[in-house]
Amino acid sequence: MQHHQRANFGSRLGIVLATAGSAVGLGNIWRFPYMTGQNGGAAFILLYILFVFLLGIPGMVAEFVVGRSAQSNAARAYNRMAGRTPWRVIGYLGVFTSMIILGFYAVVAGWCMQYLTVALTGGLETDATQVANYFKDYSSGTWVPILWTIGFIVITHLVVVRGVRNGIEKASKLLMPLLLLLLVLLIVASCMLPGAMRGVEFFLKPDFSQLTPNVLLEALGQAFFSLSLGTACLCTYASYFGRNTNLTNSAFQIAMLDTIVAVMAGLMIFPAAFSVGVNPDSGPSLIFITLPNVFGAAFSSAPAVGYIVSVLFYFLLALAALTSTISMHEIGTAFFHEELKVSRGKGAIIVTVICCIIGIFCSLSNGSLSDVKLLGMNLLDFCDSLTAQVLLPLGALLTCLFVGWYIPKQVVKDQVTNWGTLPSWRLKVFLFAVRFICPLCIISIFLHQFGII
Ligand code: PHE
Repeated sequence: MQHHQRANFGSRLGIVLATAGSAVGLGNIWRFPYMTGQNGGAAFILLYILFVFLLGIPGMVAEFVVGRSAQSNAARAYNRMAGRTPWRVIGYLGVFTSMIILGFYAVVAGWCMQYLTVALTGGLETDATQVANYFKDYSSGTWVPILWTIGFIVITHLVVVRGVRNGIEKASKLLMPLLLLLLVLLIVASCMLPGAMRGVEFFLKPDFSQLTPNVLLEALGQAFFSLSLGTACLCTYASYFGRNTNLTNSAFQIAMLDTIVAVMAGLMIFPAAFSVGVNPDSGPSLIFITLPNVFGAAFSSAPAVGYIVSVLFYFLLALAALTSTISMHEIGTAFFHEELKVSRGKGAIIVTVICCIIGIFCSLSNGSLSDVKLLGMNLLDFCDSLTAQVLLPLGALLTCLFVGWYIPKQVVKDQVTNWGTLPSWRLKVFLFAVRFICPLCIISIFLHQFGII
């Protein structure tokens, strides 16, 4: 079989950071708060954290195992290991899912870009009603949101064709510590607003009567979405890992970081939302109709600081989104490049065009196409639910079964223990999780959702 000279990540830090850069993004800062708000608060968070550690970490390691041992794009990785069996489908499913996610994700990233430019020119609304109206007017518009959506995909495209190391690694290294710092600052600002404590309570005090079957699936979907799990994204990135990368430790570290950022985002949003009277179940608009109030109210005595903080925040949010879109784009780009034997540039163009088309329709679904409903949802919400609640859990389920039951145990052993240099208990725990715990939990949640159990 032909082996391409594959790009490689430079440093150990680079690998963990770039994969963490994929995980940390709008999933944590935009999606997690709105999901928490729609699903009743703290009880949802506990479930989410449980799923991250019980199912997410083994799932991540499973994708790492496939990616690093096959050393190729997602589809070929599964092809190589699955031969002619139906397991091959997992790789194609990943490529398909990642392109749908990139399509709608870019719309939201485009909203961030708009807020960044408005913040830069000092025109951010800070009056509570104006803030809400602004979002509604803007997101239902036609041309500007579409241009930002396409713009964001094109920026992603440019980073991806510059190569794995230069593009991804540099961006991730710069981003993460700064983002964490800013979140701390905004949490403090948000918690100091009048009436903020009710938001903290909503976020930290669980009410288990809120747990419906749907909440289980939403929490599962959110955990997988946030960890970039189930799209073969982690598999593609792991194909660039070196032989010394400790797969289990990396998965654990990334999951920790990802969860911390999500919880911090929640602590930033809910106190402010309760303080200014934004409904916590406002859905996808939640952070956009909440945050400008924080910039206005919390920094009213020092508007210059408010200005700097708002610009920096939207800038970092856009960057966090970018390191995630890069990873989604990379899946398709590596796939078309290696499978169609075209240059990386051409492979990237194919992905960009497909995602722009999806993105345009998703963007319009907030405005002129808002009457077009799929299962009662507009196209953007439909793509979001379809991927998070169906395709990602399915991709993760199949990957766990594939790694747990199909591929030779020796391959798994080599990968998980780094060719026998790490303790073997890791292998035992991992195998038990991917063979039994993950499949049983995911299948039960699916069945529960449909009222079968
Ligand atoms: N994990 C990313 C986020 O939280 C989204 C993502 C999903 C990225 C799937 C890649 C693949 O924003």
